[in-house]
Amino acid sequence: MNVIPTIKLNNGIEMPQLGIGTFAVKEDAAERVCHAVKTGFRLIDTAQGYGNEKEVGEGIRKSGIDRKLLFITTKVNTTEMRNKTVRQSIDNSLNDLGLDYIDLVLIHWPVAGHIEETWKILEEYVDKGKIRSIGLSNFNPHHIDSLLLYARIRPVINQIEIHPYMTQQANVDFNFGKDIQVEAWGPLGQGTNGVLNDPTIEEIARRYNKSVAQVILRWHMQRGLITIPRCDNDDYTGENLCIYDFELSPKEMETISGLNRNLRTYEKNDPDNFPW
Ligand SMILES: NC(=O)c1ccc[n+]([C@@H]2O[C@H](COP(=O)([O-])OP(=O)(O)OC[C@H]3O[C@@H](n4cnc5c(N)ncnc54)[C@H](OP(=O)(O)O)[C@@H]3O)[C@@H](O)[C@H]2O)c1
Repeated sequence: MNVIPTIKLNNGIEMPQLGIGTFAVKEDAAERVCHAVKTGFRLIDTAQGYGNEKEVGEGIRKSGIDRKLLFITTKVNTTEMRNKTVRQSIDNSLNDLGLDYIDLVLIHWPVAGHIEETWKILEEYVDKGKIRSIGLSNFNPHHIDSLLLYARIRPVINQIEIHPYMTQQANVDFNFGKDIQVEAWGPLGQGTNGVLNDPTIEEIARRYNKSVAQVILRWHMQRGLITIPRCDNDDYTGENLCIYDFELSPKEMETISGLNRNLRTYEKNDPDNFPW
């Protein structure tokens, strides 16, 4: 049974609105991916920088699911952009994942001076049928304005840090205005920023007999965002899927959005000033 709604991208492709993240999951990534797919998830987010594409590919095959039913995202690493090894890195991703094509490839961070050449290579791979959609991650509006001046293929998505303490409303509105969907990374504050123990969200969660995580994920869904919570715990995997049997009121949506503090989980995650 697959209850997860999809969002139509600007190239007509449908993307599941809820998936799983794999940041910092290495040894048991194959098990995690296999379990998530068997639970009902279809969108899987990885990155060259996570060093787990082989394990993610293994998990996909182990699940036994028809590959066509999955939506796999990876991201081009900053090092590959700086070293001008983007083509080779995409070939390696295809090889490590064990796929004939990747559903979505993102530029992981806006590495100054290397965005245009990387974008053109991504466009080349779309032309070759090796990548279906291309997009961005950690791009601020000014980065997108510059890219749209030369992009032959429009980015379908911008994946940025979003949780109730970092709502990024202006960036979300900007992207939607350009027909670019927004995907929230760190949707649960990476489990470390305190949002999972926020008393205001706890109170809302009690009303629906849901967990704080479920209320936060529901808030992302009702904002029209795509998101990819990560979990190592099998119980959480199932729990994170059970968010389609309740609806937050407009007032509750506003209350959660009102918790915004423009607080990144790490200060160095500022897209205009990142060190990696
Ligand atoms: N584009 C980028 O630059 C970027 C940056 C960071 C992340 N990402 C992507 O976004 C994905 C999600 O972000 P993230 O992994 O950093 O953090 P996250 O999903 O916000 O938080 C993960 C944490 O939440 C906990 N959790 C998950 N479900 C829960 C539940 N139902 N109840 C209580 N706790 C729960 C997990 O606990 P357990 O581990 O104990 O299960 C884990 O500690 C990543 O995995 C990655 O794919 C992208």
